[in-house]
Amino acid sequence: MSQEKENYHLFGTVQEFKDSPIVCKQIGTKRVAVSQIEGVWYAFEDTCPHQGESLSKGTLKGCIITCPAHNWKFDLKSGESTVIPDEFIYTFDVKVEAEKIFVNLKF
Ligand code: FES
Repeated sequence: MSQEKENYHLFGTVQEFKDSPIVCKQIGTKRVAVSQIEGVWYAFEDTCPHQGESLSKGTLKGCIITCPAHNWKFDLKSGESTVIPDEFIYTFDVKVEAEKIFVNLKF
């Protein structure tokens, strides 16, 4: 059983995704992006570990997001890079209640 404390923050509403597949917001000191892919919600740190580019400005193909700067790719299911060994982005649990989206930032 996980010992991590839940730390859910209100991210926004489902309505915000009507016209955009990815929405990015600043929550505290972190830039967090959320996307819904085939009915599943994903949240991730919107900062590429390479040189800090905003991943939400990149391209999304299935659950793989490609950084717009130098094409590093990350799987939103695990956070792991699919092209650079041992590189990853933080991913966060998402819950939706009454059309509101919450992300568990765990920090
Ligand atoms: S900043 Fe993302 S790949 Fe270089």
